[in-house]
Amino acid sequence: MVGTAVEELLRYDSPVRDATFRCAAQRISLHGQLIDEGDIVSLLIGSANRDETRFADADRLDVGRTPNDHLAFGYGPHFCSGAALARLEGTVAFPLLLQRLGSVQLAKPVDELPWRPARVMRGLASLPVVRN
Ligand code: HEM
Repeated sequence: MVGTAVEELLRYDSPVRDATFRCAAQRISLHGQLIDEGDIVSLLIGSANRDETRFADADRLDVGRTPNDHLAFGYGPHFCSGAALARLEGTVAFPLLLQRLGSVQLAKPVDELPWRPARVMRGLASLPVVRN
């Protein structure tokens, strides 16, 4: 995937931090951990998207990161059916919003922003800004 700000935001702060569960089809060993056939496994997309072996300097937000093969929309047969729509919305909505609002800045420090209590579909409860 070509590097864009939307792709990097999806990687850096994955809205679906945990995917749904999977049932192991066969016994495998992964990083020294044995997963038996039939075991239920929780996939942590947010963690995979910060994997230093896949993304150099993974904890750094880099809007020009290329390639950016993140897993924010999942992978394989259950890959998000709405990925193209979500990408389009992000690409159109963010610039338009900033264009309409003009110059804005956060009204609160980043670590005080209110998040919705959600394990799967994460998001801010609100994003207070002040216009300059
Ligand atoms: C930023 C926005 C979105 C993100 C990050 C996202 C992420 C994901 C992820 C990670 C999965 C895979 C879950 C898994 O493997 O267990 C998924 C599946 C899915 N998503 Fe999205 N999604 C987004 C927006 C949308 C939208 C806008 C739609 C519909 C209009 C949509 C419809 C679906 C559907 C139907 C599935 C299930 C596909 C299947 O199981 O075959 N998503 N999404």
